[in-house]
Amino acid sequence: MPRRCIASINLNAIKKNYLYAKSLSPNAKAIAIVKANAYGHGAIKVASHLEDCADCYGVACTEEAIELRNSGIDKTPILLMEGVFEVSEVKLIEKYNLIVTVCNSKQLQWLLDNQFNKSVDVFVKYDSGMGRLGFQGEEFINAINLLEESEKIGQITLMTHFSSADDLNSTSTNEQISNFDKTLYSKKYSTSLANSAAIMSLSESHREYTRPGIMLYGSSPFPKKTFLNKLTPAMTLSSVLISIKSFKVGQSIGYGCRYICKQDTLIGVVAIGYADGYPRSAEDGTPVYINGVKSKIAGRVSMDMITIDLTGVPNPQIGDCVELFGENISIDEVAEHCSTISYEIFTKITNRVYKSYV
Ligand SMILES: Cc1ncc(COP(=O)(O)O)c(C=O)c1O
Repeated sequence: MPRRCIASINLNAIKKNYLYAKSLSPNAKAIAIVKANAYGHGAIKVASHLEDCADCYGVACTEEAIELRNSGIDKTPILLMEGVFEVSEVKLIEKYNLIVTVCNSKQLQWLLDNQFNKSVDVFVKYDSGMGRLGFQGEEFINAINLLEESEKIGQITLMTHFSSADDLNSTSTNEQISNFDKTLYSKKYSTSLANSAAIMSLSESHREYTRPGIMLYGSSPFPKKTFLNKLTPAMTLSSVLISIKSFKVGQSIGYGCRYICKQDTLIGVVAIGYADGYPRSAEDGTPVYINGVKSKIAGRVSMDMITIDLTGVPNPQIGDCVELFGENISIDEVAEHCSTISYEIFTKITNRVYKSYV
């Protein structure tokens, strides 16, 4: 592998984070969210590694669920968190033994109209304030009643999703909980409310099922890295120095001449760019880690390369390993410098990056 641009993924860290999520809500079952290829970490690898402890997996669509089932994950329940997108998929629920979310009247009708050989378990989604998927008001009650009357339906669980659980100053999470509980149905059925932020900050939201996502991968759901020390980063993204050159004060570096050397500067080129998923929005000063010290980006991210300031880096050499985030640099810190969130960086890492599993 000549271009050593590598995402090294520590599966034990993911397991540790999953068990930590479970320890925070010991009476709940935790649905490990492995949609979007396990937030870029490799859904089959992650789910296979969690097989001895996972209560359930959460995916976005039937394609993701089938990929897991075809890889040999055949016992652990899999939840389709957005339900099915067209009627032709309904038959896959039974074939692949999936739990389906019902978010709207169309999905409800498709389910009720289908002939199943055995009953299917469903999650019914309530829009308690997220303003995205789910039934509102009376429609929710009607949906539950219709599902309850149907012999095709097995266990019913009620689900809602928070809009602002990552904002500890927001009152909206508590408002959503009370909206949800007002339906009274939350007393009769199992329920699922909490994402990572709520698991880590709000025990009232834990209920029968939690849905940890980003915390499994060792990134904080909170903007200011609160509680991060309890999570173990699972992915280390690294590449190598491929050029080292001196520049005089006033010389410019990279596209658009964005970075101007304030003094004579040693600049290194690293073999990673936005075509690998490293954000083009990374500003000057975004941290990287090389030879035991932090260094920073100097100049605009290119398609295949970035440029870094090697001032203070001990004995830099072509071939030295440069960490973009992971063990030494928090992805949350990088995300802040790129005006984005870790979720987006993780899920945008491209196939050109070699994944190695520890
Ligand atoms: C419905 C639902 N539940 C749970 C999660 C997991 O959220 P987080 O990654 O913030 O823990 C997501 C993520 O997008 C989601 O859409």
